[in-house]
Amino acid sequence: MSRMVEHISHGPADTARIAADLAAHLGPGDVVALIGELGAGKTTFARALCRALGVTDPVASPGFTLVHEYRGLVPVVHADLYRLRSDPLDAASLGLDEMPSNAIRIIEWADRVPHLCPGDAIRIEIRCGPEPTLRHIRVEYPS
Ligand SMILES: Nc1ncnc2c1ncn2[C@@H]1O[C@H](COP(=O)(O)OP(=O)(O)OP(=O)(O)O)[C@@H](O)[C@H]1O
Ligand SMILES: [Mg+2]
Repeated sequence: MSRMVEHISHGPADTARIAADLAAHLGPGDVVALIGELGAGKTTFARALCRALGVTDPVASPGFTLVHEYRGLVPVVHADLYRLRSDPLDAASLGLDEMPSNAIRIIEWADRVPHLCPGDAIRIEIRCGPEPTLRHIRVEYPS
C-alpha cells in the first residue's frame, strides 16, 4: 500500500510551503513526479522544492532546455517532459539516467512519458479549482 497525503492550497505561497515541507521527507536518489494540467502549479512546486533542497541559483522554467541540473544539498535535477509529446527523445538523450546516483530528480509532466519515470517515484498530483487560486495537491509515497 502506498501512503497518501492530501493538501489544499489557497495560493502559490501555500503550494511553495507544501513543497518545502516535502523536502524534509526526501533522500538522495529520490524522484518526484509532478502531474497536473497547464498552469496547475508544477513549476511553482518544483521551484520551492529546489529552494528547500538548498538550491540558491535561480530555478528556470525548463522550456526548450528540458533538463536543468542545480547544486543543492545534493545535486537537484529539474526536468519538464511536456515537449517530449511530439519529440522522439528518449531517456538516453535526455540524460535522466546518467545523473549522479545521489541526485534528487523533479520531473514535470511525468505522466507524459511514463517509462522515463521510475515506479517508486513520489507522485504529486495537482488539481485546479473550483476557485482560480485553489489547488488540491495529493502526495503519494511509494510503499
Ligand atoms: N494555489 C496555487 N498554487 C500554485 N500556483 C497557483 C495557485 N493559485 C494560482 N496559481 C498560479 O498558477 C500559475 C502556476 O504556474 P506554474 O508555472 O507553476 O504551473 P505549471 O503547472 O508548471 O504549468 P506548465 O504546465 O505550463 O509548466 C502561476 O501563475 C500561479 O501564480
Ligand atoms: Mg511548468
